[in-house]
Amino acid sequence: MFFSGTIVAALCMLAQGTPLSLNLQVHESRASVPKGFILQGPASSDMLLSLRIALAQNNVDGLIAALYEVSTPTSSLYGQHLSKAEVEQLISPTSETLDAVNDWLNAFDINSTVVSPAGDWLAISVSVGVANELLDTNFSVYTHQLSGQQIIRTLSYSIPTHLKGHVELVHPTITFSAAPFKSSLSATRVSLPDTLSSEPSACEQYVDPACLQALYGIPMTPATETSNQIGVTGYGEEWANEADLDQFLGEFRPDMSNNVTFVVDTIDGGENNQDPSWAGFEANLDTQYTAGIATDVPVTFLSVGEDNSDGLYGFLDTANYFLSLDNPPSVITTSYGIDEDDVSYALANTLCNAYAQLGARGTSILFSSGDGGVEGNGVNDACSDFGVSFPSSCPYVTSVGATTNFDPETAAYFSSGGFSNYWGIPSFQASAVASYLSYLGDTYAGLYNASGRGYPDVSTQGINFIIVADEQTWMVNGTSCSSPTFAGVIGLLNDRLVAAGKSTLGWMNPFLYSSASAFTDITSGDNPGCGTNGFSAIAGWDPVTGLGTPNFAALLTAVGL
Ligand SMILES: *[C@@H]1O[C@H](CO)[C@@H](O)[C@H](O)[C@H]1NC(C)=O
Ligand SMILES: *[C@@H]1O[C@H](CO)[C@@H](O)[C@H](O)[C@H]1NC(C)=O
Ligand SMILES: *[C@@H]1O[C@H](CO)[C@@H](O)[C@H](O)[C@H]1NC(C)=O
Ligand SMILES: *[C@@H]1O[C@H](CO)[C@@H](O)[C@H](O)[C@H]1NC(C)=O
Ligand SMILES: *[C@@H]1O[C@H](CO)[C@@H](O)[C@H](O)[C@H]1NC(C)=O
Repeated sequence: MFFSGTIVAALCMLAQGTPLSLNLQVHESRASVPKGFILQGPASSDMLLSLRIALAQNNVDGLIAALYEVSTPTSSLYGQHLSKAEVEQLISPTSETLDAVNDWLNAFDINSTVVSPAGDWLAISVSVGVANELLDTNFSVYTHQLSGQQIIRTLSYSIPTHLKGHVELVHPTITFSAAPFKSSLSATRVSLPDTLSSEPSACEQYVDPACLQALYGIPMTPATETSNQIGVTGYGEEWANEADLDQFLGEFRPDMSNNVTFVVDTIDGGENNQDPSWAGFEANLDTQYTAGIATDVPVTFLSVGEDNSDGLYGFLDTANYFLSLDNPPSVITTSYGIDEDDVSYALANTLCNAYAQLGARGTSILFSSGDGGVEGNGVNDACSDFGVSFPSSCPYVTSVGATTNFDPETAAYFSSGGFSNYWGIPSFQASAVASYLSYLGDTYAGLYNASGRGYPDVSTQGINFIIVADEQTWMVNGTSCSSPTFAGVIGLLNDRLVAAGKSTLGWMNPFLYSSASAFTDITSGDNPGCGTNGFSAIAGWDPVTGLGTPNFAALLTAVGL
């Protein structure tokens, strides 16, 4: 727990069975056990559960309104990001909410700990027996078939009627996430020619920073502003190796100073083991392409360990960690994702709102769009409809898809994209999505949600990226390549903005969709899946490559430099 503020329950003499006096009402439920899990039986009543309680936020509508104001280029408040205190004031629960929830927990002799900087998340540790009474439920053991991992969840739980409007959700309950949460990046070993060539023709064999600089017009000039940082998140014991970064930069950015490295932060028991054989492909890719593209922009690698009790692989803890910082990075890139329908709406919405809080503070949140084409991030998907990647489907993140080829660039076949079932079409992309839907007509009707937020927002190359891992060179594919690359571009733009005395980009989506001409539109390729050809890349926005790939000079103009 990284936030102070334990709320001590009054020692209460109430006998077990108190809930009989409370009027309970079902708060969240799911119709069936999610695919990939099987019910083993009831969880033993003395087993300890770590639960989180999300409290109603004081003024979430005010937060979203403020986010749009500071992020919409035509607004008079554009760029005037909120301070940590201003965000917390909008998000902190009211004293009425705190009292109501504490009275409820006190009646069961439960102590809670505040685990988010605004005080909107509490953690409690209770036995299954007490949790079953508190929430009028039956926590059960479920096995995740692929990994064999057992988790304790339920299909439905209740809270007292008088707490409706005070409690958003209790978690983990009906959201069935299962470890291990590993990057799916596959890699092939490659030997490099003795002399490296940065000719465009070399890019047909492998993509390195020089190819991306040439293709997108990314300058090699070093950044000057140390306050502007890029954050890279790592999960699933994927560790970033400093010696490998040195070797990578030495080979592929010989012009850069030879002491560029990254800072390591850890939460949830995270580590960053530097044994060469422990280098993670994902973590190395993400650090090598942020540092390798955003010349001299400071990079921080956040290693999120396995002791996260947030029931969401550490995503919640990560968001709360960045919110707790006085100066969070101005861009955060994450190349991990899950399926939207594996997360309850209430939980997904709470996490999405945490990204909105970071956006309001001036931080851009980037996620790779997923590598399963129209199947999203999913495995075992029955394909009764297309999959949806989360958090990419949250409107407050910028989702990055993948392309390949150079003349012209085309969509990478695995680049996930589609439409959310949880969030409607936001105003910033309304006309872009409407054009695509009118092109689509009846095709795939029923397989995707025509009222949902479309993703990805943008894309970059994502095939045959060269990386160094365990002192050797490898090629990797995935939208995992694209998100750090785009983060590098935004890191450099932010550096120029800060140097000019302007604000960083923060939540970028309204800016991106109103600056479509700063992108090279990708108009061919598709993202097959579920036995279909998937969506096609066409002129204008599409749910494969978004608005297209960045043109640095045009982006500089678009930001007013
Ligand atoms: C709650 O905290 C108080 C004071 O620290 C302690 O005496 C009590 O045992 C705790 N109760 C539980 C259920 O952990
Ligand atoms: C929990 O299980 C017991 C025994 O199977 C059953 O009687 C009870 O109704 C269940 N409670 C809930 C809330 O599902
Ligand atoms: C990456 O994709 C390319 C093009 O489809 C393929 O030739 C290559 O084998 C893939 N590499 C890996 C590591 O999967
Ligand atoms: C490398 O680091 C040293 C000190 O650690 C610093 O003096 C030097 O300027 C750096 N070199 C470059 C090229 O940035
Ligand atoms: C489709 O998206 C809308 C808007 O977010 C949502 O209200 C609706 O429930 C979704 N439909 C399905 C079938 O999920």
